[in-house]
Amino acid sequence: MSQPWVAVATTRELARRRKLRVELDGTAIALLQAGGKVYAFADLCVHQDRSLSKGTLLHGKLICPGHQWQFDLETGYEADQDRCQPTYAVRVDEDSGTVYVDPTPRTQQTPQAPEEVRT
Ligand code: FES
Repeated sequence: MSQPWVAVATTRELARRRKLRVELDGTAIALLQAGGKVYAFADLCVHQDRSLSKGTLLHGKLICPGHQWQFDLETGYEADQDRCQPTYAVRVDEDSGTVYVDPTPRTQQTPQAPEEVRT
């Protein structure tokens, strides 16, 4: 079964401001570039629907322009509020500079413990 990756932008478009709002199947997505990676968040904040593509990228976090909730770029998790912003898987084709997003939101991950215990 193949994933339905959708081309949403180019790395060149994203490089200008490191944040870009795109539409994907009628849903607004915030594309974010930080630390050499591209992340995709649902654009409307889970708190009060402010646009996260207008937020601030700082130290691995995306800070909402509304009330400064700080979402982890890798997980979408906001530790102080114990809430998660929906995130999407991203694939970048370096040759063509195309950014692809999987339109199905990732399963939300709420960190339970700092390390995983394997038996
Ligand atoms: S709207 Fe994002 S923190 Fe309030």
